Amino acid sequence: MTSTTVRAPAKINLGLSVGPLRDDGFHELATVYMALDLHDTVRVSLRDDDRITVAVHVDADDREESVDVPLDADNLAVRAVERLRTAAGVSTGVDLVIRKVIPVAGGMAGGSADAAAALVGANAELGLGWSREELAEIGADLGSDVPFLLHGGVGIGTGRGEQISPVLSRGRYGFLVVVAREGLSTPQVYAEFDRLEPDPQSPRIAPELMAALRGHDAERLGEHLSNDLEVAALSLRPELDRVLQIGVDAGALAGIVSGSGPTCVFLLEDDADAQVLTTELWSAPGCADVIHTHGPAPGARIIA
Ligand code: C5P
Repeated sequence: MTSTTVRAPAKINLGLSVGPLRDDGFHELATVYMALDLHDTVRVSLRDDDRITVAVHVDADDREESVDVPLDADNLAVRAVERLRTAAGVSTGVDLVIRKVIPVAGGMAGGSADAAAALVGANAELGLGWSREELAEIGADLGSDVPFLLHGGVGIGTGRGEQISPVLSRGRYGFLVVVAREGLSTPQVYAEFDRLEPDPQSPRIAPELMAALRGHDAERLGEHLSNDLEVAALSLRPELDRVLQIGVDAGALAGIVSGSGPTCVFLLEDDADAQVLTTELWSAPGCADVIHTHGPAPGARIIA
């Protein structure tokens, strides 16, 4: 039996500007995504019948985590394959085996990464030959971040985050990712944003952030990282304020909540700083894991 194995990255939002709530229940966004070298892996193989099955394994040595990922038709990767099959007019069954590294409910788009990987893998196994753009169109309905995770690198997201323009960026950046013991629900964080910010302005991307990326200037990038959802995540999880403080006091260039949180991400000036910072961050309240990683990374791609 053949199979295709696909890796899909986690994302962070270097800038996340949240605008008004739209009629469809989503907020208008302007965001700068970066894909990180932190991946979920999905193995896709075909079945003799028409069922779609999914199994999930956690791959984090130190993390005592019960993975709260649905194992039925609610699973985003399963839904992605279902949609692809319907769009392509095929009914061949598919087995999905997900190896989870991206924190669950962490604001790093782990579920969307699995959907992106499943689309790429099923596209190959079913021999459909669809383009990345065609897959992105299917994926966008499942999660606003899926189109970006198919592209990877650095990208500007507009609309509800699903309309992607690639950004050319130079060099790589080092990050520490602080995984929280308990996740946060993205809709709840957006609802808290609405409560705290009932009349937001149109979203915009800071030109200084783009200039820092163009010039590969980590210090300047650190000064201009921003996330409008941070205040909402901090309101729901006040201890994150302390996490951010510990990282910056220990020498990170900057720390932000990733997307809707509760994962916190710290930009490093130098990879040599990672060890000291990691030790400090392990003492942060609610910390389940500290991961040293880099970005930008490629989008979902076949590795075997
Ligand atoms: O698209 P995604 O699955 O990430 O969205 C999850 C939830 O986050 C949505 O149901 C919505 O409540 C909120 N969201 C939003 N505006 C966006 C993206 C997400 O309000 N642009």
